[in-house]
Amino acid sequence: MSTNNIWTHKGTFLLAAVGSAVGLGNLWRFPYLAGENGGGAFLLVYIVTLCIVGVPILIAEILLGRSSRRSPIMGMRFLSRTHKASRAWESIGWLSAAAALIILSFYSVIAGWALHYTWRMLTGALIDADAATVASGFESLLASPSLLTLYHTLFIAASGLIVGLGVHRGIENALRLMMPALLVILLVILTYSVMHGDMPAAADFLLTLQLSDLSFEGWLAAMGQSFFTLSLGMGALMAYGAYMPGKASLSRTALAIVIIDTAVALIAGLAIFALVFGAELDPAEGPGLMFTTLPLAFTEMPGGSLIGAVFFVLVIGAAISSAISMIEPVAAFLVERFDLSRAQSVAIMTIACWGLGLLSVFSFNVWASDSPFHAALSISAFELMELLTHILMPLGGLMVALFAGWALTHGEIMKELQTSEGWLHTWRFLVRFVSPAAVAFIFLRAIPQIEGYLIPLIGAVVIVGAFAASRLFRAEHQPKH
Ligand code: TRP
Repeated sequence: MSTNNIWTHKGTFLLAAVGSAVGLGNLWRFPYLAGENGGGAFLLVYIVTLCIVGVPILIAEILLGRSSRRSPIMGMRFLSRTHKASRAWESIGWLSAAAALIILSFYSVIAGWALHYTWRMLTGALIDADAATVASGFESLLASPSLLTLYHTLFIAASGLIVGLGVHRGIENALRLMMPALLVILLVILTYSVMHGDMPAAADFLLTLQLSDLSFEGWLAAMGQSFFTLSLGMGALMAYGAYMPGKASLSRTALAIVIIDTAVALIAGLAIFALVFGAELDPAEGPGLMFTTLPLAFTEMPGGSLIGAVFFVLVIGAAISSAISMIEPVAAFLVERFDLSRAQSVAIMTIACWGLGLLSVFSFNVWASDSPFHAALSISAFELMELLTHILMPLGGLMVALFAGWALTHGEIMKELQTSEGWLHTWRFLVRFVSPAAVAFIFLRAIPQIEGYLIPLIGAVVIVGAFAASRLFRAEHQPKH
């Protein structure tokens, strides 16, 4: 059974995809990764990675959604059948569902922190606080399972409610309301940071390239980030793409998504670093950048509490618009496959994520030192989930690239991409060889103890694998040139 949902307007897909892409990845992860990896140097490798991995796989994922017109699992089942490819490709759908479940479970916990900080800012709890007070405030939030559970529950329930209302009544309406509001808030924050922060220092940090800052670690972080921020490898864009009207140009839309997503990350990065430098704080704080350094910066500035609250509302809104796109693909699958109602399907996904999210919650407190995970793996549940995202998302993306690059025919791709022959061939070359090889490097990041000399070796194995994959199709299905 294929889906009957189609976005109401030609532009709605762009709105939805940007809603999915812009989230904690842009406002929280990008700035702290840039801060840790040398600012300008990170930005450079990040942009290069977007071009050779991000954009091609983004196009591939939307392409698979729109040409199958089904949710990711059913869509891949359909495409592998119609393209006489192995049924194993259906695992793209299963992998992406697993990734969505895991990522949403801790995404929701982190977005919950922003709820806490909105509240703290609004009540003026942090006015004139010093560094130690702000830091201990964050620590005591993490130490409280009940508070974390409360915020996590509120966040995931709100996201589930929107998806439960349906593609048109829920998702479209929410996005139409939220996205313009988020843009306005972003500009308000930017203006505020120009007025009260140290923008030249921020620009200098983020935009000037210090070649000595280039590092392999930074490049791997950039690669993982490009997957995360574009919502790749989790079926979100495949599911949204299935609702995209046939007429809208896929390649132009994909480019627009990447440009807007990167612009938001840059603006957020500039604004945050301007405030951080303005308050003479450390840009390389890591994941705590948004929750300890930034609140401290706000407390020192005029009207900081109010602007701080507005900032955290932006974070929550951006996170909700991303969270709904993690729920949608799995919920759509349950509707298609088991004929459940939308409300039931969304409830199943939401409750499963909520339950899994409790593992993240407890990893910060109850299990912090002697967790069963700690004992067995010497990492926390939260870290374990982070680690999985570095495996599942790239793996899904890799398979999406290979399938779209090798299985789809020239005619099919042309029909969807509506672009010139030259671009089509460039894209195809990228998804067949370049992106898969590059993704192999991300896997290495998940294996910290890997030896350096293995890296080219694994790259080579992936390229050979790509060739082997081509054989899987070619036997019965000769793409026409
Ligand atoms: N792109 C989102 C962000 O930047 C996070 C995200 C990662 C995501 N994977 C996803 C969102 C899949 C939706 C679906 O915050």
